[in-house]
Amino acid sequence: MQTHEIRKRFLDHFVKAGHIEVPSASVILDDPNLLFVNAGMVQFVPYFLGARTPPWNRAVSVQKCIRTPDIDEVGITTRHNTFFQMAGNFSFGDYFKKGAIEFAWTLLTGPQDRGGYGFDPEKLWATVYLDDDEAISLWQEVAGLPLERIQRRGMADNYWSMGIPGPCGPSSEIYYDRGPEYGVEGGPEANEDRYIEIWNLVFMQNERGEGTSKEDFEILGPLPRKNIDTGMGIERVACLLQGVDNVYETDLLRPAIDLVSSLAPRPYVNHGHSADDVRYRIIADHSRTAAIIIADGVSPGNEGRGYVLRRLLRRIIRAAKLLGVEQPIMADLMATVRDAMGPSYPELVTDFDRIQRIAVAEETAFNRTLASGSRLFEDAARSTRAAGATVLSGTDAFTLHDTYGFPLELTLEMAAEAGLSVDEEGFRGLMAQQRQRAKADAAARKQAHTDLSAYRELMDSGPTEFTGFDELTTEAKILGIFVDGRRVPVVSHDGLDAQRVELILDRTPFYAESGGQIADEGAITGTGASETAKAAVTDVQKIAKTLWAHRVNVESGEFVEGDTVVAAVDPRWRHGATQGHSGTHMVHAALRQVLGPNAVQAGSLNRPGYLRFDFNWQGGLTEEQRSQIEEVTNQAVEADFEVHSFTTELDKAKAMGAMALFGEAYPEEVRVVEIGGPFSLELCGGTHVRRSAQIGPVTILGESSVGSGVRRVEAYVGLDSFRHLAKERALMAGLASSLKVPSEEVPDRVATLVDRLRAAEKELDRLRMANARAAAANAAAGAEQIGKVRVVAQRMAGGMSGGDLRSLVGDIRGKLGSDAGVVALIAEGDNDSVPYVVAVNPGAQDLGLRADELVKVLGSAVNGRGGGKADLAQGSGKGAAGIDAALAAIRAEIGRS
Ligand code: SER
Repeated sequence: MQTHEIRKRFLDHFVKAGHIEVPSASVILDDPNLLFVNAGMVQFVPYFLGARTPPWNRAVSVQKCIRTPDIDEVGITTRHNTFFQMAGNFSFGDYFKKGAIEFAWTLLTGPQDRGGYGFDPEKLWATVYLDDDEAISLWQEVAGLPLERIQRRGMADNYWSMGIPGPCGPSSEIYYDRGPEYGVEGGPEANEDRYIEIWNLVFMQNERGEGTSKEDFEILGPLPRKNIDTGMGIERVACLLQGVDNVYETDLLRPAIDLVSSLAPRPYVNHGHSADDVRYRIIADHSRTAAIIIADGVSPGNEGRGYVLRRLLRRIIRAAKLLGVEQPIMADLMATVRDAMGPSYPELVTDFDRIQRIAVAEETAFNRTLASGSRLFEDAARSTRAAGATVLSGTDAFTLHDTYGFPLELTLEMAAEAGLSVDEEGFRGLMAQQRQRAKADAAARKQAHTDLSAYRELMDSGPTEFTGFDELTTEAKILGIFVDGRRVPVVSHDGLDAQRVELILDRTPFYAESGGQIADEGAITGTGASETAKAAVTDVQKIAKTLWAHRVNVESGEFVEGDTVVAAVDPRWRHGATQGHSGTHMVHAALRQVLGPNAVQAGSLNRPGYLRFDFNWQGGLTEEQRSQIEEVTNQAVEADFEVHSFTTELDKAKAMGAMALFGEAYPEEVRVVEIGGPFSLELCGGTHVRRSAQIGPVTILGESSVGSGVRRVEAYVGLDSFRHLAKERALMAGLASSLKVPSEEVPDRVATLVDRLRAAEKELDRLRMANARAAAANAAAGAEQIGKVRVVAQRMAGGMSGGDLRSLVGDIRGKLGSDAGVVALIAEGDNDSVPYVVAVNPGAQDLGLRADELVKVLGSAVNGRGGGKADLAQGSGKGAAGIDAALAAIRAEIGRS
């Protein structure tokens, strides 16, 4: 049964049973604790927690899931993938254990000609949480499963949570027995290769707090209702129903392996875990994951999600190299993924050009890095051998890994070819140190993350009402006060740093940071008995999307929970913020007008007076494109367009052509901001000016790269834009006055000066070389005789480059005639360098002298490196103090010939 069919049968089965089919969420959800969506239930967390009322009480989905913590295991075990499709049914306070078991059982064992999967019931096993007798009885009653095929397991296996605070509960898993050829008997408890897990039924009934592992976390208490969350691994079911022995053989993964094996010199054997087979599987697994992540809006980068993507793409490229594939393969791999996965994930087809472009750009860039890494390797190997050693240092291997992305195995392979081994222990030590640093960073980040349980009670009493679209001052009630994340009844100005105190209000005019717009600033003041209380608002963040937490600096008096206060946004700040945000929409619209629809937004940030906008684009913008974008933006500002906002359904907004941020999860009802009708239409919750002319002038400061395939424009708006221009004008005036010409003549004047400077430098060079040639002629005349060889070994005037020396050496060698002759010149160059060149004519070569050997003699006295051929060699060192010794050494060496 094909994978698409397995998916369809799952959805049909549950839709027939009254479930609403919910599309897969993007793999990126707005949760800083979760790099990628890793389970079907993630998009439903607020429903389980009771923070939001679910619109339906039964749902079914097939969710795109990414799990990368075990990335190094991919291909070694043959049942794990970094991307997989989790089919799940969900009950929000509706059916519980019995329903979940019944639905799963009928689909698994239902005959294939009636929409089921047709698994043999005799081969199915179940596990339950230690004390879950109820589940045991249900498995017996509902499914007729004999007791000997039900096993009890502990926390680590049968108690599910997301690994972070959130909903959790005991679970019951369904396993399929693949038979004795896969391992020993004894059920899942004995062997999870033979008994393969296909479906996890979670009885979601509790809420967990912080913890350190799967088995160690605090259970905070029961959820408002009992829920069901299940997850069936589509890939594993496909593997069983297609009668293949591992997931890489299934219809959606095998095509990538076939593609690579048509290009690689060694075939895919699919027997055991040979290094080559693992490489094939890595490529098949990672190319799927990469395509899905790119489709959801991630570009390769050095942090977070971008880093995961980069790592996946680079692992593909390295695996291909290790398989002996010489040519680029990314373009074809992405097309293979599109063909296999497109029917279930249409975004892979509609967005294919962008996905392929991004993957190929990373491949090209990484191949360049690999090439420079190879050069570094050659150098390191050469100096290792030159030092008479046979072991490449751990530091070299680590640099190759860390800076050039060489896995140890690649370095080992290259070293073996060069007849060297590698200090693996040293390498591992450095890796361990690096991991330690990364861990410390992660721990520091975690401390900054808020434990949501403290805010739970407030979430239940409903969201903060945002009044800031209509007013800047609002009377509100303090619902809660938090200091360092802990709830307190009262807070006074004594002894507390800013940033540690949070006030939660029932209503607020303060905009909380979101959608690229930073939070409003202003003040919260007390009324009545606490009218002396005053706090400056320094930041506002949303908690669980519903509560506005105002970070404040209490400047006087005290705030008490339940007090009525006045929250007032600084109007000047807000005016600037609206200019920044509307300006961002204008630049976005202008950018698409100039560059076309491929310039897709990748992020933005705006604050009063400033904005920046990131977008997907390969290569830099030309000066002309940049000024066109600026021109279109300012014309639209001047047109004084009306800015209009309204709410509508997501589908309608999209149908109108409203632009949305790629990969963002939007609610069903969205706010749309329209500037100048068709000019700019975006989904946006931010605050805006009323008419475009209020934005004031927009000046684009610059355009730069922020990672592969992503560009950034930055701009000033409003008064800051004017001030920036005024500053440039003052600079120009200063230049004009120093150059003593009117401003408009500055460019010509500078060009003339630059030309004159160049001419003067050329003349200087000419004179220097003329002098040097005269010196060379003298030098040739005064050549010393060492044995049978005429030798010129000299220190030249300072400031000469290696190139200068090389041309002089040629001159002198010519003047020495046909007798055996050696010329060695060395000088104090620029920046502390010591360039040197050695030439050996054919007569001297006949006596066994070689320039590439003599150059080493010079080099060793001045810490230099270099090389060349028998007739000519050059190098460069550091430390002019060694020059005399170097010349003495070369004379001595020639004397020995
Ligand atoms: N959330 C559970 C899991 O991921 C079941 O869907 O396994």
